[in-house]
Amino acid sequence: MVKLTQGIKNVARFLFVTDLDNTFVGDDEALAELEQLLSQNRQEYGTKIVYATGRSPVLYEELKEEKNLIDPDALVLSVGTEIYLDKSNTPDSSWSEKLSPGWNREVVLSKTNVFSELYPQPNTEQGEFKVSFFLEKSLATRVLPQLESMLKESGLDVKLIYSSGIDLDIVPSGSDKGQAMQFLRQKWDFVPERTVACGDSGNDIALFAVGEERGILVGNARPELLQWHNENPANHRYLAKNICAGGIIEGLKYFGFL
Ligand code: GLC
Ligand code: MG
Repeated sequence: MVKLTQGIKNVARFLFVTDLDNTFVGDDEALAELEQLLSQNRQEYGTKIVYATGRSPVLYEELKEEKNLIDPDALVLSVGTEIYLDKSNTPDSSWSEKLSPGWNREVVLSKTNVFSELYPQPNTEQGEFKVSFFLEKSLATRVLPQLESMLKESGLDVKLIYSSGIDLDIVPSGSDKGQAMQFLRQKWDFVPERTVACGDSGNDIALFAVGEERGILVGNARPELLQWHNENPANHRYLAKNICAGGIIEGLKYFGFL
């Protein structure tokens, strides 16, 4: 009897990974419903909840307070360059250690300096493994390839992530939301079929591209994500009709998680 109950629990348990801005957050009413469903699932079955956002710790705390977000089991901040476990205030060191080879913040800064099209984001949004700018959408198609080849030529192993037609993040190539999700999935022993990621913009592509995890694109997904989705169709990914948390609930039901 006990064994049977445990069996059911293990099947019902899943790993829930979500972007925050315009994905988890954006429709207050649907968010309240989703938080309730997730909290209950976590309590009953041991489902794990992870927020994966481009925000720094400072901007994450602001949003958490403003929307009174439920506590996650882990936090992936600064586009996957920082992972926080068990409410810790210090980024997980085994993750940080993976990001150091091929990364040099000073060299990134000196190479990007010559591009007048790049406007540095506020200091709070600069991280040990993240250099961020604003870059106008109309300039991006020209500037991004130039910048990328210049950084590669200088021997750095970095990646450019462009989101929402404005945000440019330069990070170590071994680091993004998707790789951070896999790190947690393996740590907590979830199979890809019991893992689901939700997002709306460019920095979420990594969540959907990294493997066979289930993916939910909310109905308000941005053009850069929709374009990628159309060019890379997959049965394990679902484009919702509803926006934000409403789209997430729709997708969780579609995949049978709820
Ligand atoms: C968040 C961060 C910003 C980043 C963007 C996209 O807005 O604050 O630094 O560029 O996400 O990842
Ligand atoms: Mg977003």
